[in-house]
Parts: sequence; C-alpha cells; structure tokens
Amino acid sequence: MFEENCQVCHGANGVGEAPGDPEARDEFGFKAPALNDDAHAWHHSDQTLICFIAEGSPCNTRMVAFKKILSPDDIANLVAYLKSRWSVSSLACQGGRHMGFMAMQ
Ligand code: HEC
Repeated sequence: MFEENCQVCHGANGVGEAPGDPEARDEFGFKAPALNDDAHAWHHSDQTLICFIAEGSPCNTRMVAFKKILSPDDIANLVAYLKSRWSVSSLACQGGRHMGFMAMQ
C-alpha cells in the first residue's frame, strides 16, 4: 500500500523526497518529508498522523486527503508500517512525550 500510494513522493521505505535535506522546497512548499525517523514524523501522535493522511496537508496541495481512496483501516495500517521503520527510542518518545522532560523543569 505504501509503494502504491506514497512512495512516489516519500521515497522507498519513507526516506523522503530529498533525503538528507529536510529544508528542501519546491513551488508547493516543503518537499515530501522522510516518514522513517530521519525527520520529525515521530514527533506526531498516531492520531495526528492518521488525521494528516486522511485529511491531507492544510498548507501543501501535493499531500492530498487520502480518505477519498483509503479506508480508516488502510490508514491505520500505513501508520503501523511507518512506525515499523522507527528506532526503539523514536517509538518511546513519539508525540508529546519527546518534550515531556520540559514539564519537570
Ligand atoms: C504527490 C506527493 C505525495 C504523495 C503521493 C504523498 N505525500 Fe505525504 N506529503 C507530501 C508533502 C509535500 C508533504 C509535506 C506537507 C506539508 O509541508 O504540509 C507530506 C507530508 C506527509 C506527512 C506529514 C509528515 C510530518 O512529519 O509532518 C505524512 C504523515 C504523510 N505525508 C504521509 C503520507 C502517506 C502515508 C502517503 C500515502 C498514503 C503520502 N503521504 C503520499 C507529499 C506526498
């Protein structure tokens, strides 16, 4: 499913459209970011990732709303696939947890 729907922009295994250059842009905005843990996909909760994939990007028309062609189960399975590319530490720090230490200061 990732190969069919996402790889053309996000690269094989989710390495991103411009691997190693997270600031890369085109006329639409940022190029498709890495979805493994080279960029910041792991800063988002599962729910945020699911919503982004379902609804598309509010600021870049290239990232369309996939709810038109993928079911909620498909989207949940894609998020599970992406997370299978993340390291143990990214999984442990996913979403708001990576800033959790700030609350202690
Ligand atoms: C036509 C190109 C294109 C396709 C196909 C595409 N994306 Fe994207 N995607 C983008 C772009 C460009 C962005 C950056 C959007 C922005 O800057 O707001 C993005 C952003 C994202 C993000 C946010 C990442 C982050 O770290 O904030 C997720 C998650 C995502 N895409 C998942 C997917 C999935 C899953 C698929 C396949 C179902 C997919 N995309 C297909 C171009 C694409």
